[in-house]
Amino acid sequence: MGDINIGFAKENVEQAGFLDIDVDPQIDLFSEIEKLKKEKNAIVLAHYYQEPDIQDVADYIGDSLGLAQEAAKTNADIIVFAGVHFMAETAKILNPNKKVLLPDLKAGCSLADSAPAAAFRKFKEQHPDHLVISYINCTADIKALSDIICTSSNAQKIVESIPADQKIIFAPDKNLGAYLVKKTGRDMVLWNGACMVHEIFSLEKILKLKVRHPNAKLIAHPECEEALLRHADYIGSTTGLLKFTQEDSGTEYIVATETGILHQMQKASPEKTFIPAPPDNSCACNDCPHMKLNTLEKLYLCMKYELPEIHMDETLRQAARKPIDRMLEISARYGL
Ligand code: 13P
Ligand code: SF4
Repeated sequence: MGDINIGFAKENVEQAGFLDIDVDPQIDLFSEIEKLKKEKNAIVLAHYYQEPDIQDVADYIGDSLGLAQEAAKTNADIIVFAGVHFMAETAKILNPNKKVLLPDLKAGCSLADSAPAAAFRKFKEQHPDHLVISYINCTADIKALSDIICTSSNAQKIVESIPADQKIIFAPDKNLGAYLVKKTGRDMVLWNGACMVHEIFSLEKILKLKVRHPNAKLIAHPECEEALLRHADYIGSTTGLLKFTQEDSGTEYIVATETGILHQMQKASPEKTFIPAPPDNSCACNDCPHMKLNTLEKLYLCMKYELPEIHMDETLRQAARKPIDRMLEISARYGL
């Protein structure tokens, strides 16, 4: 669509991060979003950490690998990404000719922010003979400085696919990196980044919770700290955690990742009990503040007015695409 005539210049929308317009409370957002999808040949891709309403309206819900794979194969003209900026950016890197929308451009990521490009370039220069594997939770600039991208679903296979004598830098998540060092025995150089949500859990409170729920299994995302992972009964990506709760014979789980995933866990296994792992203090800090910037209203407005949109410099896009393609090739080789 051309310029919007709603009293907003595109620059203002980009500055605010979202379309700040009141939505008529009488509107049935679910059916309006369905109509917009058909009218515009648009697909809604949502991460498991999105609020339940957004998950319920999505065409595909998944982890970072699933979302990247879905973005790589869609025939839709418009990709509406209900997730955070690096995810929508990845979809744009894979689809330069499609319109990629993000309901709130300010939906960032503390982990991606922990690796500024200039500092990372210097770090890389200090290790000239190292190959760079970067977790997908990073900016396009970091992707362009990397040799291979990975996600929590394929990280182990990707590290193992590299010849044993090849030195590796792993960035930006030091916790996932340390977990991979332990799993693969590879002595990787780690960038010192972390996710604010996965570092907030209180091991002390979790252990007390386990005493009160002796049959509950602790399941954790590998972005959590090593001290917590040591106590986990299962460690995996969001899709891995969800599958585990579906296939496992247990009935009670303490879930150490962002709370959004509980919606699908509860939907898939209504007879089971899911307890969010308690954070260090009384706040709802295991809700990702970035993921939760997206709302159903913002999703509707963004589809209606096709704003805000992800734009990328073409040279950067091409450089960032190579390590993502390598990841998709390796994942396909292993049937991931
Ligand atoms: P996955 O869903 O790929 O496991 O990633 C978790 C995460 O923190 C996404 O921001
Ligand atoms: Fe980033 Fe952590 Fe939020 Fe995921 S949960 S988007 S890694 S801050």
